[in-house]
Amino acid sequence: MVIVIVGGQWGDEGKGKLVDFLAQQADMVIRAQGGNNAGHTVVTEHGEFKFQLIPSGILHSHVTCVIGNGVVADPRVLIREIEQLRERGVEPQNLIISERAHLVMSYHPLLDKLEEESRGDDRLGTTWRGIGPAYADKIRRIGFRIGDLQKQVFMRKKLDFVVGKVKNPTLQRLYTEEAFDNDHMVEEYLGYAQVLDPYIRDTFPIIHDALDRGANILLEGAQSTMLDLDFGSYPYVTSSNCTAGGACTGSGIPPTRINKTVVVCKGYTTRVGYGPFPTELLNHVGDAIRERGNEFGTVTGRPRRVGWFDGAVARYAVRVNGATSVALTKLDVLDEMPDVQICVGYDFRGEFHDHPMANISHLKHCEPRYERMPGWEAPIGDCRSWEDLPANCRAYVERVEELCRAPIEMIGVGPRRDQFVVRGRRPYFN
Ligand code: GDP
Ligand code: IMO
Ligand code: MG
Repeated sequence: MVIVIVGGQWGDEGKGKLVDFLAQQADMVIRAQGGNNAGHTVVTEHGEFKFQLIPSGILHSHVTCVIGNGVVADPRVLIREIEQLRERGVEPQNLIISERAHLVMSYHPLLDKLEEESRGDDRLGTTWRGIGPAYADKIRRIGFRIGDLQKQVFMRKKLDFVVGKVKNPTLQRLYTEEAFDNDHMVEEYLGYAQVLDPYIRDTFPIIHDALDRGANILLEGAQSTMLDLDFGSYPYVTSSNCTAGGACTGSGIPPTRINKTVVVCKGYTTRVGYGPFPTELLNHVGDAIRERGNEFGTVTGRPRRVGWFDGAVARYAVRVNGATSVALTKLDVLDEMPDVQICVGYDFRGEFHDHPMANISHLKHCEPRYERMPGWEAPIGDCRSWEDLPANCRAYVERVEELCRAPIEMIGVGPRRDQFVVRGRRPYFN
């Protein structure tokens, strides 16, 4: 069985925690897109782990963890992540990296930063991790793939062209930066090749053999529907398809083999970076949710923008991803609210819209239409069943469910691995 996990808002919905939880029953977890712009948190009895490139199933030694072909991986970050895991007693011997995955090269983060700075007031608020420039090079067919690290002569020749003819002229003429030294880069990347060599594989037969055996496979989405290159609030998006389709192209698993898609949404909404955010709360309520939810970026530490739950965004995510269910996370963060609000759609120029408009200027200037519901004003962190939840909390979940038009099967009531109310069938993989 294959389950796709995708974000339903603007990222950081708790995908990592859900993947770690479901990985208990899985044989394989695959990251299919994004790079170290992602920060996925897993909290266990051994403390907090933050994964950027390594799949969030790595703490389960029986799970094969795959960095798929659709990922862009910065080898420096990947090596650091492997080392940090080792220091904490986790040996990632079950990690494999697709030969086809692309490298974030050392010039990509620099170009990301320079491009952002030159945008001035129109900057996107990227993570400066070089994700956009790396994907742009992949599309332009001047990207380096992880498998290239194993081909010394090829690497040297290609660096001569890409660095010598494309990157250095851009850096020097457009931005008056210093040139990269090709010879030094060859040495540097050969060093990375030595460390990463044991993990690099053609993942096609490994994944397809697992599919043929009927293995339980989780596809761990990074970023989110509203950050998707096509369906997000373009240009305030990331540079990959983070919706369910991207899980297929980024792993090589065909759409016909996907059994379930779980859209993960917080019980409210957050966003890091710039761009439209209709339900944003620029007041003390937003500040209170940010503090209680510890809404500060996993990757950059930036305070996350906070707002009410947006039913139009969630339903859009359910439809675009073909969700079979929704996981509603961080509901405990709203425990102390005397009342809560839910956006059911937007009013714009006399018309009601029940989904986010493609035109981001309309999305920026629309008026969210809200429903107000009484809060539950009780701690839910110890609740483990639907009946344990306070009545007002259940009413809130049921209204969100109605708006999403997909069953809410998992409810997050705290950051720890066990802090879930599972409403759906157990075990989840059947
Ligand atoms: P991801 O990028 O989607 O994996 O999410 P992040 O890890 O960036 O952000 C989610 C944050 O919320 C992390 O700090 C998690 O530990 C935390 N978290 C996840 N689920 C819950 C929950 O149900 N309740 C609370 N209070 N925290 C949660
Ligand atoms: P996870 O997987 C939240 C945002 C950035 C910026 C925009 C483009 O942890 O949910 P990029 O560096 O990708 O070019 O930045 O996308 N962004 C995220 N926001 N969670 C993420 O990942 C994100 N990855 C990128 O803040 O607005
Ligand atoms: Mg995150």
